[in-house]
Amino acid sequence: MELDTVYQNVGQRNIEDTFGPRTLKHRQNVGKRRGRCLVLMTVCLGLICVLLLVIIIFITAERESLFKSYKNTVEEFNQTINSLQDNYTDLTQKKLELETRVNNLTVEKSQLQRSFDSLSQKNLELESKVKKTNSKRDNFFISSELKSWSESRQYCRDRGADLVIINTEVKQRLVSSLAKERVWIGLSDIETEGRMIWVDNSTLNQGFWFRGEPNNYEGNEDCVVLNPTNDSVNNWYDVPCSEKRKGFCEKN
Ligand SMILES: *[C@@H]1O[C@H](CO)[C@@H](O)[C@H](O)[C@H]1NC(C)=O
Ligand SMILES: *[C@@H]1O[C@H](CO)[C@@H](O)[C@H](O)[C@H]1NC(C)=O
Ligand SMILES: *[C@@H]1O[C@H](CO)[C@@H](O)[C@H](O)[C@H]1NC(C)=O
Ligand SMILES: *[C@@H]1O[C@H](CO)[C@@H](O)[C@H](O)[C@H]1NC(C)=O
Ligand SMILES: *[C@@H]1O[C@H](CO)[C@@H](O)[C@H](O)[C@H]1NC(C)=O
Repeated sequence: MELDTVYQNVGQRNIEDTFGPRTLKHRQNVGKRRGRCLVLMTVCLGLICVLLLVIIIFITAERESLFKSYKNTVEEFNQTINSLQDNYTDLTQKKLELETRVNNLTVEKSQLQRSFDSLSQKNLELESKVKKTNSKRDNFFISSELKSWSESRQYCRDRGADLVIINTEVKQRLVSSLAKERVWIGLSDIETEGRMIWVDNSTLNQGFWFRGEPNNYEGNEDCVVLNPTNDSVNNWYDVPCSEKRKGFCEKN
């Protein structure tokens, strides 16, 4: 019994020794490993969660910054467009103003052109008048010697001219401006007293007499002088034909 028990005990112990403790240890080891694994997995999961959180935060931040920059870009773009619109409006306004100015200037230009044309025309007329006057001037000369009316007239005729005939105020002014002193002109009433005629036998239409002239003083004044120092226009008077004066000659 005792032996049996011993043997049994031994046998049990042996069995326990050989198997029992090993199985426990093994069980304990497995449990430990499972725990570690669980811890490890938890840590891993935690890490993954943290990582995910970080990633999510990062992405959110990135998204926000992207959105901000996008908003900024849109705003800038909007501002540029608005500025462009303003500039376009400005330019349109300026273009209108310029067009108005161009129209005005065109009108002014045509007005000026007309003025210019008219002035050119007047200038041409004046030039031709000046030419005429100059050519007339070239036809005038004053005798160098003091002679009677008839002798002075002969002086002119010897040089292809005659004493001057004055039919217009323009010519009267011209002759008066050219004569520096008293000169004979081609007018007399030698033939018929009181009937003044020019050297071409034409009658006097318009006389430029000094006041109170002609007066045929002492019934002896039949020839006419022009005295530029007397008056610029009305400067004729009759004197005796024998007086010695220079003659104002005109070529025909
Ligand atoms: C662009 O600007 C205009 C005027 O400044 C404003 O009315 C509009 O809301 C803006 N649009 C955007 C997208 O910012
Ligand atoms: C609009 O014109 C102003 C000057 O008038 C200029 O400074 C600005 O750059 C222009 N805007 C754009 C978008 O061209
Ligand atoms: C153009 O002329 C009109 C009248 O002729 C005037 O009212 C306007 O101010 C002028 N505009 C310019 C830009 O000169
Ligand atoms: C003017 O008349 C006179 C005679 O009265 C004559 O001798 C002379 O030839 C005439 N002169 C001219 C230019 O006709
Ligand atoms: C003007 O002419 C008259 C001749 O009728 C002469 O007596 C007088 O002295 C002259 N006067 C002048 C200021 O030369």
